[in-house]
Amino acid sequence: MSTDNLLKTITVIGSGYVGVTSAALFANAGFKVYALEINPKRLAAIKRGKSFFYEEYLNPLLSRAVSSGSLVGTDSYEQAIPDSDVIFSCVGTPDNPDGSSNLSYVFASAREVAQYAKKGAVFAQKSTVPVGTGIEIEQLFREAGADIGYVSNPEFLREGTALFDSLWPDRLVVGGSSDVANKSVMAVYKSVIDHRNDIAKFVGMEIDAAIRDNQPRYLSTSRNSAELMKVSANAFLALKISFANSIAKLADAAGADVVEVMDGIGCDTRINRAFLSAGRGYGGGCFPKDVSGLISSGLKYGIDLQIMQAVSTENESMPGYLLEKVVKHLNGTSLAGKKVAVLGAAFKAGTSDMRRSPAARIVDLLISKLEANVYIHDPEAFKEEGFDAEINRNATIVATTEDAMKQAEIVVIATDWNHYKSYPIESYAELMAGNLIVDGMNCLDPKTVRAAGLNYIGVGR
Ligand code: UDX
Repeated sequence: MSTDNLLKTITVIGSGYVGVTSAALFANAGFKVYALEINPKRLAAIKRGKSFFYEEYLNPLLSRAVSSGSLVGTDSYEQAIPDSDVIFSCVGTPDNPDGSSNLSYVFASAREVAQYAKKGAVFAQKSTVPVGTGIEIEQLFREAGADIGYVSNPEFLREGTALFDSLWPDRLVVGGSSDVANKSVMAVYKSVIDHRNDIAKFVGMEIDAAIRDNQPRYLSTSRNSAELMKVSANAFLALKISFANSIAKLADAAGADVVEVMDGIGCDTRINRAFLSAGRGYGGGCFPKDVSGLISSGLKYGIDLQIMQAVSTENESMPGYLLEKVVKHLNGTSLAGKKVAVLGAAFKAGTSDMRRSPAARIVDLLISKLEANVYIHDPEAFKEEGFDAEINRNATIVATTEDAMKQAEIVVIATDWNHYKSYPIESYAELMAGNLIVDGMNCLDPKTVRAAGLNYIGVGR
């Protein structure tokens, strides 16, 4: 049975990475969707059928939804909420200086919803919140006399593969106040799954035949379990990365190759190879924040999560560790005033997002500690105005890979964009003045680099 007739209108509050992706998909799956956004620049972009960040396949879906009228951008709760059957909260939860989550946007939007929502509407929380938040919001609804269901609905999409992750998710989780509320939220996702082949076809997303019919696991849990599941999933992935990075340091010291080690470990189906790639560390809008958020939740309940503290410390050390290897290799030769090319600024390939990007830390250290003259390139990160805010002002942002590499003493790969991986290694050699490739992502083959007459430094190899 199609769910389209049962639920008609949705509001997605917040047009960040999760909000825009969700709004675009819901609007392409038969719903009338309001994208409620108070930032004028982001709202103006939505109204033009565009997102303010780069994500493959997203703009065609936004554009189709806006021109058909199924997606409406607004900054008015009063316009969007009274009509809505399900309201998804996708507002930001930045971290406070002490590592805890700043929930002011979460509570502010819940208060607005309490004021305007119709009886029986459902509020689905997709913002990442600390365990226990949902119960406080239900209390807020009760005190406001609002008859609104509450569902914790953790989001697991990755930037760069957001559309695929949302169309072919591993699991969909609802931790709601009632079965009815859970079913309303699940119905939205089931409709997306029903429309996924058409959506993928429309944007030209190729789906491997082996997984095309894969169905997600539908999980219904308590509110607190759903909240804790979201943060713990990210914390565990961060833990795997920091584990790989710790072993990488040992591999360097002992003369092993961490890639070979992790390939071997990853064959064990109990462990799995994913998120065991050593490199310059993790960044982005989720892992650093969720690790510190989990530590902070632990402290609130009297649990000392030392393991997560170690994950964070290990991660923070990686950009500096990489550059220590460079200094050792240079053996006293100074980089002061010399040109260093940094390839990649985004926190990972496939996105323009530079939040907490280790690439930015590498640039900072190259400039402040080694006094190098840094030229940085990224295929997506610098396209929008104001997007260079994360990068040290003394770095020169260039438009092409060649501009960065020409006459460079050293090339540092800080983000593993395909463009850098597939760039012919002979061209690296021809363009550069020096001969050192620093592979912060372990994404090049050291043998190929050396065969081109260049020196190679990786992480743990
Ligand atoms: C993450 C989670 O994967 C996703 O499920 C959640 O919803 C949001 O947070 P995202 O932050 O978009 O997604 O990126 P992800 O692909 O997980 O990468 C995070 C960081 O880890 C990147 O900086 C990446 O370069 C780094 N990473 C990843 C490694 O250093 N090694 C790895 O093996 C994998």
